[in-house]
Amino acid sequence: MEILAHAKLNLTLDVLGKRPDGYHDLRMVMQSVELADVLNLSYNDTGELRVGTNLHFLPNNEKNLAAQAALRWWEEKGSAPRGLEINIEKHIPVCAGLAGGSSDAAAVLRALNEMERACLPLEEVARIGERVGSDVPYCVMRGTALAEGRGEVLTPLPPLPQCWVVLCKPEFSISTPALFAKIDSVRLRCRPDTQGAIAALEAGDLHGVARRMYNVFEDALPDRQRARVTDLKNILIQSGALGASMSGTGPTVFSLFDDEGRAREAQERLLDCGGEVFMTQTV
Ligand code: C5P
Repeated sequence: MEILAHAKLNLTLDVLGKRPDGYHDLRMVMQSVELADVLNLSYNDTGELRVGTNLHFLPNNEKNLAAQAALRWWEEKGSAPRGLEINIEKHIPVCAGLAGGSSDAAAVLRALNEMERACLPLEEVARIGERVGSDVPYCVMRGTALAEGRGEVLTPLPPLPQCWVVLCKPEFSISTPALFAKIDSVRLRCRPDTQGAIAALEAGDLHGVARRMYNVFEDALPDRQRARVTDLKNILIQSGALGASMSGTGPTVFSLFDDEGRAREAQERLLDCGGEVFMTQTV
């Protein structure tokens, strides 16, 4: 079975505080985009669970979230694991704040739900994903949603009006646990207006959403990395973006455009600045 694993963006991301279990309570508006990994799943006769990707540095064993998702699936079903090949063609940049690994895991769960003819409702599939990673439940549900709690408490929102998305993953990567650890001691200069962004979505107001995009993790980045993220945001805004922000714990910067030509020009401009650059649309 072939299945797509879409990247996600955080239109807003707020950290409300640290929890007794070591995780953080979050409040964020999530959005899926067409940029996606392509997964192929097939049963084998060897009884082994094998993951292959076109990126040699990614784990091909149980360290890969896609494999963890498959193991979790059979654990939940109470049945012995079957031999399974998972082939992942990566297009989503890794360690980028775009939930590439979580989305691959979510795609495996969705695929197994069909391949095994389990017919579980998506909410139930999302629940299985909770233990694989905090973003996995959202990646199962996709679309536009408010995510709270660890990220697993989901409320569907009206879709973001049609627009073009230009994103750039700078040359460096960010460790998610390290940035979460740092955020506790950072004095946040600014918080996103998530409620305003939700009201703008309800009104179908793309400009209103774009104006309110903000991610508190920008304040937790080391100085040089924060400067790079700010530069990229400025380039995008100067190129006519309606708004620009960082996704997840970064470092990918994304922006929304209501004009395809301007989005293409911004993409061209960013290609001269290094990093991986993509133009995509919302799902
Ligand atoms: O849940 P997941 O494994 O994707 O999270 C990776 C790390 O990010 C966690 O180990 C934790 O350090 C941090 N995290 C957090 N609060 C969240 C989600 C993730 O502190 N809500």
